[in-house]
Amino acid sequence: MGFFSLTHQPNFKMSSSISGFSKLSKAEKIQWLRLNYLPDGSHKILEQFWSSDNAFQNVFENFSENTVSNFHLPYSIAPNFLIDGTLYAVPMVTEESSVVAAASAGAKFWLKRGGFKTRIINNLKEGQIHFNWAGEAQILEAFIRTNIESFISACKNTTSRMEKRGGGINTITLRDFTAIEPQYYQLKVQFRTADAMGANFINSVLEELADFFSVRLTAETNIEPTIIMCILSNYTPDCVVESMVQCKVSEFDDKNAEYYTDKFQKAVRIAQIDTYRAVTHNKGLMNGVDAVAIATGNDFRAIEAGAHAFAARDGVYKSLSECTVEGGVFTMRATLPLAVGTVGGLTRLHPLAKLSLELLQSPTSEQLMSIIASVGLAQNFAAVRSLVTTGIQKGHMKLHLSNILNEMGASESVAESAQKYFESHTVSVNAVRDYLNEK
Ligand code: HMG
Repeated sequence: MGFFSLTHQPNFKMSSSISGFSKLSKAEKIQWLRLNYLPDGSHKILEQFWSSDNAFQNVFENFSENTVSNFHLPYSIAPNFLIDGTLYAVPMVTEESSVVAAASAGAKFWLKRGGFKTRIINNLKEGQIHFNWAGEAQILEAFIRTNIESFISACKNTTSRMEKRGGGINTITLRDFTAIEPQYYQLKVQFRTADAMGANFINSVLEELADFFSVRLTAETNIEPTIIMCILSNYTPDCVVESMVQCKVSEFDDKNAEYYTDKFQKAVRIAQIDTYRAVTHNKGLMNGVDAVAIATGNDFRAIEAGAHAFAARDGVYKSLSECTVEGGVFTMRATLPLAVGTVGGLTRLHPLAKLSLELLQSPTSEQLMSIIASVGLAQNFAAVRSLVTTGIQKGHMKLHLSNILNEMGASESVAESAQKYFESHTVSVNAVRDYLNEK
């Protein structure tokens, strides 16, 4: 118990471990939490967030394990996204103030200037069979070369439905790491997965292929490989989309347009030469990417991991966007890997993810890549525009004000008067505290 005094911690409970928590019912799990961790009465908060619709609640509980409640996040809309000639109202799920406002502001700005133009650079996903093998590399290379067709046939059970949708195994290549790790090789397998993100499909094919590969290699060479693991890679540098916006500098509707676009371009350039800035710059872009990924039931952790690895593909972590001002023309583009799906996974299971895809006019996975990259670019554009003009705090803190007021326990009427007051005063935590103290 160390430093704590029980008299000052009326709700303090002894933390404890448990075996078999996963086997308890939801009520038993909560009861155990009440006895061991939860402050008295606070279990009611868990219950407050249950859906009154049991079937719906059931669906939610099955997404994850050991579920005791639902965690709500705002579901918002950023309208006016003109992407490749189609207008979208984009659903975004984020808890951070000013993200949706920034995306909407970026979309609105570009709506009148031609919108976002996108290009799918490639749409290949990949997985790897990692293995050790004690034979000669040339023998292995020759074995792989002559067996590619049989490898592909060996996986037909799993791949045939995907092939009907235009997907399947694309390439199989050997990667030799023995110079840095004795006996270690990879079979790198590239896939097309049609409109699915494809994680389960890829992993199933890899495991099936590894069994066949192992048996066949052993039979042909008398040296059995040790399959270390089979798993897709969330680094997808061959599943990349570019989104671009362009207009004349004079279209910026600002008498200082040249000055600001020049500063803007410099700000993006800084994110290409300085990692500290690049990470924050990309965080801003990913504010938009993640929010749409979550709203459409896509795996934002995979997208984040892949995007940041891509940002460091030249050995230095850099901006995912570029900006030029040449001949009086402002151009900005974001290029990033996006392995997303519009079928499978959570996309149809989560009622709001399903609705999001309907809102987006039932896109293909490539169209969704274009939409997400464009929201990322809009977000990045709006953030950098604020940074080089008014400064970020003005817009961000204005929208964060209601959170600060809530946190400080302001009543509805005081919050209302504070909102009015801060229309003409700079918002900061201290300024809000001072305002409330004076009330
Ligand atoms: P503004 O020019 O004061 O906005 O910008 P406005 O009041 O003139 O409205 C213009 C449009 O912005 C609106 O059009 C909306 O589209 C949108 P309308 O709807 O009126 O036709 N908009 C809003 N949408 C919804 N709710 C709102 C709202 N307000 C404006 N309340 C704005 C205000 C916040 C948009 C601007 O200051 C901005 O873009 N700021 C950037 C905010 C940002 O990036 N926030 C993310 C958090 S900070 C961060 O994490 C990333 C960062 O570190 C990244 C980096 O460093 O690069 C900044």
